[in-house]
Amino acid sequence: MCGIVGYIGHREAYPVIIKGLKRLEYRGYDSAGVVLYDGTDLKLSKTKGKVSDLEARAEKEISLNGSIGIGHTRWATHGVPNDVNSHPHVSNSGNLVIVHNGIIENYEPLKKELIKRGYVFHSDTDTEVLVNLIEEVKKQDNLKLGKAVQVALNQVVGAYAIAVFDKERPNEIVAARLGSPLAIGVGKDEFFVASDASPFIEYTSNAIYLEDEEMAIIRLHKPLKIRKIKDDTLVDPYIQELQMNLEQIEKGGYDHFMLKEIYEQPSVIKDTYRGRLHANEGLIKMAGIEDNLQKFLNADRILIIACGTSWHAGLVAEYIFEEFARIPVEVEYASEFRYRNPIVRPTDVVIAISQSGETADTLAAIKLAKEQGAFVFGVCNVVGSSISRETHAGAYTHAGPEIGVASTKAFTTQITVLTLIALRLAQAKGTMNNSDFHRYLQELELIPEKVAEALETNLVAQTIAAVYKDAPNALYLGRGYNFPVALEGALKLKEISYIHAEGYPAAEMKHGPIALIDESMPVFIIAPQQEHYDKIVSNIQEIKSRSGKIIAVVTKGDTQVKALADHVIEIPATSDALSPLLTTIPLQLLSYHIAVMRECNVDQPRNLAKSVTVE
Ligand code: M6R
Repeated sequence: MCGIVGYIGHREAYPVIIKGLKRLEYRGYDSAGVVLYDGTDLKLSKTKGKVSDLEARAEKEISLNGSIGIGHTRWATHGVPNDVNSHPHVSNSGNLVIVHNGIIENYEPLKKELIKRGYVFHSDTDTEVLVNLIEEVKKQDNLKLGKAVQVALNQVVGAYAIAVFDKERPNEIVAARLGSPLAIGVGKDEFFVASDASPFIEYTSNAIYLEDEEMAIIRLHKPLKIRKIKDDTLVDPYIQELQMNLEQIEKGGYDHFMLKEIYEQPSVIKDTYRGRLHANEGLIKMAGIEDNLQKFLNADRILIIACGTSWHAGLVAEYIFEEFARIPVEVEYASEFRYRNPIVRPTDVVIAISQSGETADTLAAIKLAKEQGAFVFGVCNVVGSSISRETHAGAYTHAGPEIGVASTKAFTTQITVLTLIALRLAQAKGTMNNSDFHRYLQELELIPEKVAEALETNLVAQTIAAVYKDAPNALYLGRGYNFPVALEGALKLKEISYIHAEGYPAAEMKHGPIALIDESMPVFIIAPQQEHYDKIVSNIQEIKSRSGKIIAVVTKGDTQVKALADHVIEIPATSDALSPLLTTIPLQLLSYHIAVMRECNVDQPRNLAKSVTVE
């Protein structure tokens, strides 16, 4: 979703902001803008399109000097993506400028009121209403900027992360958040404001993450002040030392972040289980689980809430938890859960899964579950994210920054964490015998090597991609543990290549999708040698007899499916429950190559955002 970058200090603000906006491109956006104060006036440039379009335009139309400025990438909510609706927005006096991420739900009555008072609006955005509301409040009560922002925000309903400054006081930026992330980079005689730390990591590793309902008054050469928006209480700024480094957020020689992230999986899966999985000792140690073991053991059921790929990881976990730990599991889309008056009991354990830790629906579902007395455990990647702070306890996936909009390493590391939890619960409950428990620990330890082997299918995947790159539709089928992988495979294809794809449990094919099969339909079947292998072979025969094109992911050495399929991709053998960690790899590679061959924007697919901070 929208990205914010602000700078105040001793450097030229423009290059910091532009570079920072580029780092935030992964969030998804449709327009971009920047405003600087050059000592005499505001210099504003904004455009529909990419940050590179903004650069081209800004370099022609404004002077690029100034050591205070704010920039923005906009993902349209109110008002179509166009130059006028792009941020920053300027108040009617021409003094205040704002960038905003989120939605002001009550912008219409506020706008009407401001119009009555003589304000004129140029855009369709809720943001322009907010900046003029701040101006009005400031003028009416002769307030300083910080106070005016606070009073205005107390009139607003909705979600926001904002950065505002006043050209009449160009030594100050005011930032605030409610429901959308905002970090402040604290350097020597300089400050950065950004939607995440990536825009400022090369300048400082000291960061403050604003909490919901907090605002920061950032003044040069003065102590930074954080206040609660509602009651004005002063909060002690908590400065964290970031662990992230620049290399982690760059492409490292790969053409796309997605490919880099696909290839990182062997190492990040290892990072995920490092210090937690002790195969030789037959132990799993996860602080978040040990500290809350009784809650899990006493749970009547586990409710998993998530969106998108994280929801697919949750579905894999459903199979694993029920099989290993014999605890009933339900998996819910967070967006449905939060609005359907769900029954949540204090004896439920809720697991919220989110790569970004900022997904608005998941966050809202967590709050709802907590209100109803459930214990909520988070599985997040981004350290310090809203979801990791909102949950009672949790486990990080340690996948490192995922920049490509299409989740890849997030999926496999989420499954790794969830498998560790399920195994630990199975051990504690005695629902798995000792030898199986040890076998799983050893197999899990070998997964990174096997993922590396699965990555060797890249060339085969590329060759198959060339054959099917122009297909208008595709079907993905899998059974058991690999049904969610079929859903995930279809999601990967549709989101980055814009080919319509559907995932189905293979046995459900006969209840509808089989009608779609003809000689032009590629059917991607996940068919490793596992339980019900013979059933999936029958499904393949059914497809073959209707002339569908079969691309099968099989276990190395398979002969039966090989004899039937048009193409096979071989992956190493592992146990059924761990197979999604391997079967998903060739599907990621296939989608990637198809998207590249179709000349799609792999890392920033149209209309999509990396972290969906609005509902
Ligand atoms: O950050 P989250 O895991 O909460 O994000 C959830 C979905 O928005 C995300 O998985 C989305 O579906 C990806 N584009 C999938 O590749």
